Amino acid sequence: MAVEAAGLTAGDARIRGARAPGGMGPMIRLVFGLRGPRRPVLGREYAGRVVAVGAGMTQFRVGDAVFGITDGMHMGAHAEFVCVKATGLILPRPETLSVPEAAAFFFGGLTAADFLLDQCALQPGERVLVVGATGAVGSAAVQIAHHHGAHVTALASAENLDLARQLGADVAQDYRTAPPPGPFDVILDVPGVMPDALARLADCGRLGLITADLPSMLGAMLRPGRGEGRRLCANVIKETRQAMARLMALHEAAAYRPLIGSVFPLSEIALAHAQADSGHKRGNLVIEMAPKA
Ligand SMILES: NC(=O)c1ccc[n+]([C@@H]2O[C@H](COP(=O)([O-])OP(=O)(O)OC[C@H]3O[C@@H](n4cnc5c(N)ncnc54)[C@H](OP(=O)(O)O)[C@@H]3O)[C@@H](O)[C@H]2O)c1
Repeated sequence: MAVEAAGLTAGDARIRGARAPGGMGPMIRLVFGLRGPRRPVLGREYAGRVVAVGAGMTQFRVGDAVFGITDGMHMGAHAEFVCVKATGLILPRPETLSVPEAAAFFFGGLTAADFLLDQCALQPGERVLVVGATGAVGSAAVQIAHHHGAHVTALASAENLDLARQLGADVAQDYRTAPPPGPFDVILDVPGVMPDALARLADCGRLGLITADLPSMLGAMLRPGRGEGRRLCANVIKETRQAMARLMALHEAAAYRPLIGSVFPLSEIALAHAQADSGHKRGNLVIEMAPKA
């Protein structure tokens, strides 16, 4: 497949830098390479065009516009061409998405939908707090929670408060001021910066800890089950064709559109990594393989 554009995510930056929340750095090194990424070309989500198909593959034809996520730990989307399984996490690309939007469609959207709808089982009318509301995951979470009829409070930096409201937040508050006391039915802490979040939950509230360290992930397994008190949710999200189809359905219902922060040519990918490393990017970063002249 010829890659037209690819998302550059916090996950890519973590793998490149072998950085992980407390206790999990060595795990990243073991899985992805001891002295640097074992796979030299990173990148998982892409938008592109099919340039060749394997024998017997009928799902796609040469020239088809597609988007998706490269299989497992193969990565390789930050390149002009990548080989993916026709039966893997790949879909026809809709005309309602620009190429950068298609390239950045899945990372934040799948994460937000998995945490809000599956792990935290969000119900209409519930009070939701999104911490990190204008990054890749948070901007998707605000949109999806709003669409589900939740009352959404967004925590963002002062310069991003208007953006948070445009995404669907009912209330937007600067995270440098005192945090809202709650109680909230669901808190999504994207950057993992609210140590007292559990105390801000209503009875039977759920805390989605998206950037979780090892103790929190283990703690999540030991917390009470659904309906038995406050619950910590910190699982790795499921990347499946069903989850991708659900996100597409949300997009078709005008409930989700990836927020594009910056688009870089491939030659400036180091700048994009630096922005992802900062932990303060707006929405998604996209790498264009062949920018228009
Ligand atoms: N569990 C899973 O399966 C899973 C899956 C995917 C991703 N993740 C994790 O999700 C994280 C990526 O999130 P992302 O891509 O959305 O990150 P991002 O785009 O870099 O956004 C980070 C957000 O956090 C905000 N922020 C930074 N410092 C803050 C503070 N002190 N208080 C409140 N907000 C603060 C930033 O706001 P400002 O820019 O306004 O400062 C920004 O909106 C990564 O840690 C990744 O490992 C987990």
